[in-house]
Amino acid sequence: MEPAQAGQVVVIGSGLIGRSWAMVFAGGGFRVKLYDVVQQQITTALEYISKEMKELEKSGMLKGTLSAEKQFSLISGCTDLKTAVEGAMFIQECTPEKLELKKKIFGQLDLIVNNDVILSSSTSTLLPTKLFTGLKHVKQCIVAHPVNPPYYVPLVELVPHPETEPSTVDKTHALMKKIGQSPVRLIKEIDGFVLNRLQYAVISEAWRLVGEGVISPADLDLVMSDGLGMRYAFIGPLETMHLNAEGMTNYCERYREGMIHVLNTFGPVPDFSGEIEQQISQAMSEKTPADPEHLNARRAGRDECLMGLAKLKKQMKSN
Ligand code: NAI
Repeated sequence: MEPAQAGQVVVIGSGLIGRSWAMVFAGGGFRVKLYDVVQQQITTALEYISKEMKELEKSGMLKGTLSAEKQFSLISGCTDLKTAVEGAMFIQECTPEKLELKKKIFGQLDLIVNNDVILSSSTSTLLPTKLFTGLKHVKQCIVAHPVNPPYYVPLVELVPHPETEPSTVDKTHALMKKIGQSPVRLIKEIDGFVLNRLQYAVISEAWRLVGEGVISPADLDLVMSDGLGMRYAFIGPLETMHLNAEGMTNYCERYREGMIHVLNTFGPVPDFSGEIEQQISQAMSEKTPADPEHLNARRAGRDECLMGLAKLKKQMKSN
């Protein structure tokens, strides 16, 4: 991580994801302009960031080498887009997931940016060809999709438009590394990118298993949190195959037929509604009632666990 004055970035939209990005960039020593159309949102975001940074510093989990006070002083709010982007080397858009709104914002940026700044979107679902086609600065455009909460879960999926310059991808990759995130490159765009495709594959089989009466919703979740998830926090599914036999070739020799047999018993895509939805919803609400108070408390608990895991991973890497 770098000391202050590493450069200036702009975060567009100061909601859940924008706040996190602002903190991550400031942790890397970057000056951050936090732009929003709603002044009150910026004020609330800055209050939140200041409090979070102090708490992170106390718990030893503040990113980077600068103090919380110094990092916070690197972030300033702005409600004028032209002023916000002046002198910026990277712009991270974090507005609501609405295609027309995002297209409008990138259209506005296209008119005011120079030929060097990188224009990046946090979108979880919108493909680069939908967002960036036709822009004069399309070569400088990329999706950098974070995972919530980005402060503890470092993965960022980089998804280029077919006309994105390779140097835009390389520079974004280097920047993400510099601020302590873990970027992966998608070579081409695909619906759901990679993280959500994997996530949906798991969700849909989970749904079918509960729906077919094989397991209860609570036990299904335990299979992941106390089973698969334990190793997936450290090694991915492909390396798991490699290690669970005498290498990948041996794994395929041993388990190919069995895997294909089981995979052929997977059912169709669920409709995520009706009786099974009610059953799963009821089971989830028994543990965490679906009101803001309980959900927020459980989210805070989740973030504390993720913070502990991030700490552990950091310790293990430095050993
Ligand atoms: P949010 O609703 O919390 O925040 C959106 C912010 O954008 C608000 O502060 C709003 O005032 C501001 N805004 C609205 N119109 C604007 C405009 N024209 N110019 C500037 N700011 C404007 O949304 P959230 O959850 O932070 O999501 C932002 C993006 O991040 C979305 O594209 C979403 O798909 C993506 N994302 C969200 C994740 C999540 O778990 N929430 C995870 C990964 C990506």
